[in-house]
Amino acid sequence: DPSIVKLRTADSDTAGTRVRVLGRVHRLRSQKDVIFLVLSDGYGYLQCVLTGDLIKTYDAMTLTLETSLAIHGEMHAVPPTKHAPNDRELHADFFTVIGCAPGDMEAINTRVAPNADPQTLYDNRHLVLRGETSSSVMKVRAATLRAFRSTFEANRILEVTPPAMVQTQVEGGSTLFAFDYYGETAYLTQSSQLYLETCLPSLGDVFCICPSFRAERSLTRRHLSEYTHIEAELDFITFQDLLDHLESVICNVIDLVTADSQVARYIKDLNPNFQPPARPFKRMKYSEAIDWLREHNIPNEDGNPHEFGDDIAEAAERKMTDILNEPIFLTYFPADLKAFYMKKDPEDRRVTESVDVLMPGVGEIVGASMRMDNWDELMEAYKKEDMNPAPYYWYTDQRKYGTSPHGGYGLGLERFLAWLCGRYTVRECCLYPRFTGRCTP
Ligand code: 4AD
Ligand code: MG
Repeated sequence: DPSIVKLRTADSDTAGTRVRVLGRVHRLRSQKDVIFLVLSDGYGYLQCVLTGDLIKTYDAMTLTLETSLAIHGEMHAVPPTKHAPNDRELHADFFTVIGCAPGDMEAINTRVAPNADPQTLYDNRHLVLRGETSSSVMKVRAATLRAFRSTFEANRILEVTPPAMVQTQVEGGSTLFAFDYYGETAYLTQSSQLYLETCLPSLGDVFCICPSFRAERSLTRRHLSEYTHIEAELDFITFQDLLDHLESVICNVIDLVTADSQVARYIKDLNPNFQPPARPFKRMKYSEAIDWLREHNIPNEDGNPHEFGDDIAEAAERKMTDILNEPIFLTYFPADLKAFYMKKDPEDRRVTESVDVLMPGVGEIVGASMRMDNWDELMEAYKKEDMNPAPYYWYTDQRKYGTSPHGGYGLGLERFLAWLCGRYTVRECCLYPRFTGRCTP
């Protein structure tokens, strides 16, 4: 019947009309004379009520979870006490099965099977994604990407797409994925930063949202082998400008994401205690963090009290962030702990104009710094790190052809989402997580 409206489950204001809805069985509750079936089509959920003759055609073997259907009927508004999604119900008078499903979804539904084996869940990620939690996280992820792009656009920062296949490292050689590139060694990029820096003279401030790759050996809840890296580079700025910019980008993105009532609802469901961070963010120097860790008896990786120069490892960092329980700008890391390209603080050349943004529950979500803009200093830095400067000629040239004070940052999207959505691990915050030992599906 062509007069029947084809409906998405999320479409509203359809009470009283006859509609046809296409989707899959998401939940099913069957009583003596009535079946309540929640249909899902990726846009939302719709409760369908099947009664009378329709139930006689119902066969438990065909109406299993994830079976796809076309259901015809009339839409009715229902009171909130009925707990129907969007307070609507479709009174079905006809349905056809499009594709049956084997009826084994309970095994990977963490609501029904909270102790499901993680490996089974990762093997079945393609089906786990159909669950309400995963699909909500993916929708918040899409909204977050939109919010970053629109924030960058409002700040006149231009999107570029640097290469993923490179012959230089950015964050140290130990986490490079190497491969054969027509007989030469090439790597999957760890960060697009160096390429972004080369765009400043021609394009002004730039950003990219690309995958970055890290051959991390350790299995932690915040490390992936492939993650989505949001990076930006800003020209003719000071370190203070960089800090102010970061704070305003993060707050603007949160404002935009939560301004959408549907997305705000997903966040509320996923992370009931989420509070948008208050400005200004706490600013703490690395040296102050070392003192704080000593005062709180939080040891370094060797089990000793922290000393200036020690790396603040993941465990200590997270403890500190959880106790302080607010975003922290951790600034001025020692040069010896940080990457070769970071500019030294002119007032104390032991440390760099660098900042990590730490969030409760996750720790570091952003790494940022001013860049070494002096040619001689950069050549020194290559030497100190035992790096061959030859493959970096194009990066070094930026200091030769009209150098400038500039800086930028990289934000791990999955870590940002783990904080925003209150997820235990970044693996829940991407479609198909890649980590040590896992490249399927
Ligand atoms: O601190 P990182 O290594 O800094 C850079 O790569 C800079 N070159 C970025 C820049 O200035 N343009 O990485 C930046 C962020 C981290 O703060 C973290 O959020 C994320 O990238 N990140 C990871 N996320 C998931 N899995 C991993 N293995 C990650 N490694 C870094
Ligand atoms: Mg870092």
